[in-house]
Amino acid sequence: MTRRDFINSTSASYASLLAWGMLQPAPASALDLPANGKKSDGKGRKVIVLGAGLAGMTTAYELGKLGYDCTVLEARSRSGGRVWTVRGGTKETELAGGTPQTCSFENGLYFNGGAARIPHHHQITLQYCRELGVPLEIFNGANESAYLYNDGGTGDLANRRMRISDYHFDMRGYTAELLAKALDQSSLDQQLTKEDVEKLIDFLKNEGDLNTAHLYKGTNRRGYKAKSDPGAGHTPGTLTDPYGLTDLLRSGFMQPVFYNVGDYAYEQQATLLQPVGGMDAIPRALEKKLIGKIQFNAPVSELRKTENGVRVVYQKDGKPVEITGEFCVCTLPLPMLKNLESDLSGTVKRAADFVPYMKTGKIGLQFKRRFWEEDDGIYGGISRTNMDINQIWYPSFGLQGKKGVLIGYYNFYSRAEAIGALPVAEREKIALAQGGKIHPQYSSEFENSFSLAWHRLPYSGGGWATYDDATRKKYYPTLLEPDGNIYFAGEHTTYLTAWMAGAFTSARRTVEALHARVGEYTKK
Ligand code: PHE
Repeated sequence: MTRRDFINSTSASYASLLAWGMLQPAPASALDLPANGKKSDGKGRKVIVLGAGLAGMTTAYELGKLGYDCTVLEARSRSGGRVWTVRGGTKETELAGGTPQTCSFENGLYFNGGAARIPHHHQITLQYCRELGVPLEIFNGANESAYLYNDGGTGDLANRRMRISDYHFDMRGYTAELLAKALDQSSLDQQLTKEDVEKLIDFLKNEGDLNTAHLYKGTNRRGYKAKSDPGAGHTPGTLTDPYGLTDLLRSGFMQPVFYNVGDYAYEQQATLLQPVGGMDAIPRALEKKLIGKIQFNAPVSELRKTENGVRVVYQKDGKPVEITGEFCVCTLPLPMLKNLESDLSGTVKRAADFVPYMKTGKIGLQFKRRFWEEDDGIYGGISRTNMDINQIWYPSFGLQGKKGVLIGYYNFYSRAEAIGALPVAEREKIALAQGGKIHPQYSSEFENSFSLAWHRLPYSGGGWATYDDATRKKYYPTLLEPDGNIYFAGEHTTYLTAWMAGAFTSARRTVEALHARVGEYTKK
């Protein structure tokens, strides 16, 4: 049966066909604007865009295609906002007495301080990379060779590192064994026929690698003991032994911090991607489409509604500069609206006050030697621990190179708050001490670091908007509507918060809404 036959022979909807993978997703051209109004309607209309992050630049880029005259105001000296690649020479100073930092990574080494991975199903991000000519490579998210480390537990398996694969194969084995036992005792006879049970047992034998007696006695999937790999001559290799079930259960690895998110979370399943050379390849490519349209070092201090549109004041070299436009698209993160003098409505101001933003931080650590590759066979992926460092990310690029930069912590909430509150030298110490429990090579191989806490970074004020049901209901809807001639865009105006896809899709939504409104004017 061909795909066409299948489609013809069913009454399946377009959406379900898409979901079953029977149709190709929308081609590039299907994303082309304008959805409403004529292309010429935008000609010469002035729009002031606040923020040269992904949402702001995409808004200006798409509005530009429709003839609008956009000015983008950016507080920082760089574009990209929370899409930020840290490399040698990068400078930053956090708020509230932050230590000034200048990154001293070796040439070619970097880490993505903000956005760092693209899910394969974020079509809009992938489409923009295509359109802008940003080459992508694989980001290795789930690596079973990385480690788990439960600090402070009492079981035999606490306070030591364990390969994620050992944990998974053992737990799969034991749970398969238990279910097989239940089946062998005919306890599921009511639901399943004898043939069904046989098939399920076959599945379990494979899933858990059970022996003929349906017992889990370890598996060659775990690989070989250290320095006992199979080799030439009389060296067949020595397989590892499984951990005991009760040891595993008492290990502490059932805490949520150790969940196998790489396999289970929709956004973190293989395949993930990243731009070659750093995530900032995306904002840089957008910037190239907006030459002469972005004002850098131009923090906005006032946002006013006027009779015919908007008036914006920004600071340039310490002096206020005023500009006017017909529309404004404000992509500033909500925490940045709090200190803005504005005519924004009370509901928008309350959203700025009450939608919480994620506290989150990262540190890049440069090492003399890629010991995680050379000694541990870890190429990309993430180790997890309940210590404050929470995660260690191994780079998916520059494999087998001489030196390397890994992300020594990536943490959230109270862990990020605790580490982020410290001076950078203290953060580095903690990253080295805690990470050193997993990788003893840290102390001899470390060279330098660069750390950041998004909730302390000027012009961001947090990692991303974190809605719960109540704030989504109370504050979110107001951000979807224009407040007079002021529109809002950014990840906080989507259900894709914390992802670049949110920034992109919010920009397109706003451009469509604004352009449809202009289309209505010109009809009259
Ligand atoms: N998108 C961010 C990341 O990949 C933040 C995030 C983390 C979002 C975990 C969802 C889950 O790290």
